[in-house]
Amino acid sequence: MRKQIAAANWKMNLTLAEAHELIDLLLQQPLSIEAHQQVLIATPFPYLIPIQQKLANSQIKCCAQNIASTQNGAFTGETSAEIVNSLHINYAIIGHSERRELFHEDHSVLALKVNQALAHSVHPVFCCGEPLAIREAGTQNSYVETQLTESLFHLDAEQMKQCIVAYEPIWAIGTGKTASSEQAQEMHAHIRAVIAAKFGSEVAETVSILYGGSVKASNAIELFAKPDVDGGLVGGASLNAVEFAAIINALK
Ligand code: 13P
Repeated sequence: MRKQIAAANWKMNLTLAEAHELIDLLLQQPLSIEAHQQVLIATPFPYLIPIQQKLANSQIKCCAQNIASTQNGAFTGETSAEIVNSLHINYAIIGHSERRELFHEDHSVLALKVNQALAHSVHPVFCCGEPLAIREAGTQNSYVETQLTESLFHLDAEQMKQCIVAYEPIWAIGTGKTASSEQAQEMHAHIRAVIAAKFGSEVAETVSILYGGSVKASNAIELFAKPDVDGGLVGGASLNAVEFAAIINALK
């Protein structure tokens, strides 16, 4: 079975003390993380080292929330994939809708970020997903397909296998409005078919496709039960240890 993944995206939340407290509480919860399951926590950059140290005896790994599109040099404020890898962090969210919308990251910049990640043994957690107007127009499939083709389809099959895809419909992020499990399954099957058409079905069957957008303990079991939903990328609910533990335990 491909990896089933519960990934927390803390975004720009929590002080360091609060972050420690949240992890302490999470580790006190009864967690069952099997060999085919993976738990990631995308912390703000300054917390990657202390939180990773705290998680050293657990199966939970840290993840960056972003990386630079360039290798190194005069890019004040940026953090490269090489730097992230040097911390022994091997996952990075790339192309979150907040980065696309608020920081104007386009398809070609995201393709460069994916290249940087893969060049430095960092698995991209590549986000895609449509805004409400596109969903209402019924053109979400081609919209998401373009996001995948423009930023991932220059890769070879082995590189594509290193990627994780997260489908996050923008209308469901932070709104409390979740895609129905049918809507999620429909889009995830589409994403897998698009990957299969380009890279072959063996690659498509390997790539984990996560759902993100108001995932909570109360809807995770139904969402994750769908055959093409391989877990979730969780914002708000990941800031609550009991909620996130229940989401981890909802993985297939
Ligand atoms: P919410 O779970 O808060 O809707 O956020 C989803 C998200 O953006 C995760 O990356």
